[in-house]
This record gives sequence, C-alpha cells and structure tokens, in this order.
Amino acid sequence: MKILIVEDDMMLGELLQEYLQRLGHERVHACLSGREALAAIGEEAFDCAFVDLRLPDADGLQLLSAMKENDHGLPVVMMSGFGTMDYTIQAMRQGASDFLTKPFTLRDVEVTLARIIKERELLEQNVSLRLEIQARKELETVNREQARLFQISREIDEIRSSEELYPRIVQLASSLESVEKVGFYLAPADGSMLVSIAGCGWEPEDGWFEKIGVHKDSLRELLRSGETHTVIDPERFGQIFENPPPINKTLSCWPMRIRGEPFGLLVAFHSCGKMSSEEKRLFDFLIKKASLAVENMALYESLINNFYGILRSLVNALEAKDLHTGKHSERVTRYAVRLGEALGCSSAQLESLRTIGYLHDIGKIGIQDSILNKPGSLTAEEYETVKKHPAIGDSIVAELGLSPEERSIIRHHHERWDGGGYPDRLSGDRIPVLARIVSVADAFDAMTSKRAYRRSMSVAESVAELVRNRGTQFDPDIVDAFNDMLEAGGEESE
Ligand SMILES: [Fe+2]
Repeated sequence: MKILIVEDDMMLGELLQEYLQRLGHERVHACLSGREALAAIGEEAFDCAFVDLRLPDADGLQLLSAMKENDHGLPVVMMSGFGTMDYTIQAMRQGASDFLTKPFTLRDVEVTLARIIKERELLEQNVSLRLEIQARKELETVNREQARLFQISREIDEIRSSEELYPRIVQLASSLESVEKVGFYLAPADGSMLVSIAGCGWEPEDGWFEKIGVHKDSLRELLRSGETHTVIDPERFGQIFENPPPINKTLSCWPMRIRGEPFGLLVAFHSCGKMSSEEKRLFDFLIKKASLAVENMALYESLINNFYGILRSLVNALEAKDLHTGKHSERVTRYAVRLGEALGCSSAQLESLRTIGYLHDIGKIGIQDSILNKPGSLTAEEYETVKKHPAIGDSIVAELGLSPEERSIIRHHHERWDGGGYPDRLSGDRIPVLARIVSVADAFDAMTSKRAYRRSMSVAESVAELVRNRGTQFDPDIVDAFNDMLEAGGEESE
C-alpha cells in the first residue's frame, strides 16, 4: 500500500513510517504539516492516510474533508492525544475510517491497517462485480435489440405481397412491449383523409380505428415533417383528432414516406408515458424497413404486371394466327375457374387459375408456326416438338416468382392420370390439382372447338370422351365435377 502519514511529532512520524515499512508497505510518505499533506495528495494518489488531529497549520478535521474531497474512497485514520468523543463522532461522520487515541501501540496500528486492507479488498471486489453486472446487462440489451432488429428484418423480407405487408407491420409494432393498440393508415399527401388498412389490439366495439378523423392541418404537418410525433398528454389529443380516441394513453404517430413522398401513418397507443430508447429505435427501424418493402413491392408488382401483360399479349398473338383456336386460352380459363369453384378451391387457387390458366400454353411461342398451324395431322417428329411446350412455358415464367402450384399449371397440364403424359410422366395425385383441372378444361375446349383437320365435337360427344378417359387420362373426380357443372350451369362455350 502507498501510505501517507501526517504527524507534526517528527519522532512519532518516523517511528510509524519505519514500522509500516517493516510490515511490508515500502511506499510510506511522512509529512509534518497540513500544507505538506495537501501538496502530497495533489501530486500522487495514496491508498491510506494516518492524520494527526492537531497540526501546527491545520485542523485535522478540515484536512480530512480536503482529503475526502480529493479522493472520496481514501481511507483516513485520525490520530490524537486529545481525542474526545465529540471529535471522534465528527471525524467518523466526515468519513474517517478509524480513530487511534494516543498513546496507541504499534499493534493497534497493525490491526487498524489490516482492517482497512480487508475493507479495501471487499470494496474492489464489489466495484468489479458491479461493473461486470452492468456490462453484462448492457450486452444483454444490445443482444436483445439486435435479435429483434434481425427478426423484424427477416419477417418483412419474407413478405411477398402488399396484402400481407400491412397486417404484418401492425403485428410487429404491437409485439413491442409498450404498444397496446396500433393501426396503419394510408394517407394521401394532401392530408385530406386517412384510410384504415390494418389494426391490432382494437376491440370491435371501439370503432375508432376505422373512423379515425384527423384535423387536416395536423395530418398535413405530420406527413410533411416525416418525424415521429409523440403526445404524452392525452389532453392534447383534441389538437390532432376530430374524434377523441377511446384510450387515454401516450400516442405516437410515425409517418411513412416513400421516395420522400408521404404515404401512410402508423398510429400507436402506449401503455407507458414514454417509450424506451430501445423501443424507439426498433420503431424507427420497422418504419424504414417497411417503407423500403412497400417501395420494392410496388416496383416488383408493376414489373410483374407488365410482364404478365406482355405474356398475355403473346398468347393473344399466338391465338390470332389460328382462326380455329381463337380465344382458346380465355375459354379454358373460364372453365377452369368454374371447375375450381365447384371443387372448393381456395380463393388463392382460383386467382392462380385465373391468371396462370390464361398462360397455360405460353410455351407454344417457342414452337414453329409451321407446326402449330399445320392443316392436317402432325408427323411423329412434329408431335414430339409440340410436346415441348409445357417445359418451354415453365422456363419462360421461371423468373416470375410463381408458386410451385402456379407453375404446375403450365408445366403439368398435359400429364395423364395414368402416368403416360408429358413432360414428367407424373401420375394420380402427384399431378398438382390445378394442372389436373386445367387439363380437363383444356381437353374439353379442344374437342368442342373446330380444328382445321376435323369438325368440332358436340358438348355431349366431348363429355362422353372425357368420361371414357376418366381414370386413364383424367382425374375421375374432376371429370365428374365437370360433368355435374355442365349439367347444373349449362355449357358456356362460344
Ligand atoms: Fe397445352
């Protein structure tokens, strides 16, 4: 230890110095006055000090205060031959570690010092433990925050359509600790209105979520600023809303902007007065990430729609070349959707039949016109070429991000129930159901349409042909459903 002795009795000072050095504390500095002591503590730090209460130039208690002010943790042992109880109490109050009353023995000094060393060790352990706990807590907070950021990011990245996006944004926002109710609204830049899109935490009887009314000026200002707006005092809600919200809690409004243009507003009510800075960062991240997702999705959807438009016009061009098959894809789509409805397909499956059914023969754009429009029967070789169109079509739409079920309509609409079809010779249930539906619709329309090499077959003849191939070429259940459908609703062929 580095020890300071302040004792005007030089002999006692030296004795103490020598004794402490003998105890193993080599760095012991002895001084004779308060002034010297102050100079010493100003120059270097000590681990412990022995201070005489009466010094020629200073009061020991004042020196104690100065020392504590300089180093709050410095253990100071007061020494005096004139110690009274009052002095002792005063010194202890000022933070003295111990009090040695003269005459004391060297053994007393040793015991006092041993106790100070022990206390010092405990204190150091305590401090390092506290620092460790604090560091661990901070690390946990950072880790937790990073995990949440990652989760938000991943969940938004997984979203494929804007219909999914908005409910997911409010769901993610409501998963934050303080959020009780949250709503997402589309907001035209002129601040004329808010349109409720998705909400979470609202009671059906609230009604406020759908009927939200915001003063136009406030809304315009909110959207224009692009800044988060938090209102802690519910009394001020009237400045923002035309109709007071059903909840008297802190409110946050987060404008969403796309390419700098206002686009929407996330409104959240919090259970606490103020959000933690961690939650605020998460919210900021969520809004920015969601804005980017909306932007990307809009771009993607418009690209996809353009691409579908191009593909549809290619199908039209293809059919326009053949006077006999004109509007084949349109009729097949209509039959397939009706059939899908009769079979209880989901709305997503019906939508797939509607969009992709139209493109089922898109691969024919890769087959020469001379084969496609050949009047009369095809040679075996020509037929093999035509059989490539499902696989060609599949490769055309490969980059469109269609689901496997949607792609199956194009790739597998010529598979047979008995496994003798093409291109993959799938059989039975292994042929995806939408492809089996389109297969029946396709065959029916082909039979009822006039071809260059044969007359068109009647509806009855065509149905009989479907029934004849029930269980070999076609899924028997789908043929039955088609038959029932025609009987129930009549035949819509043109
Ligand atoms: Fe086909």
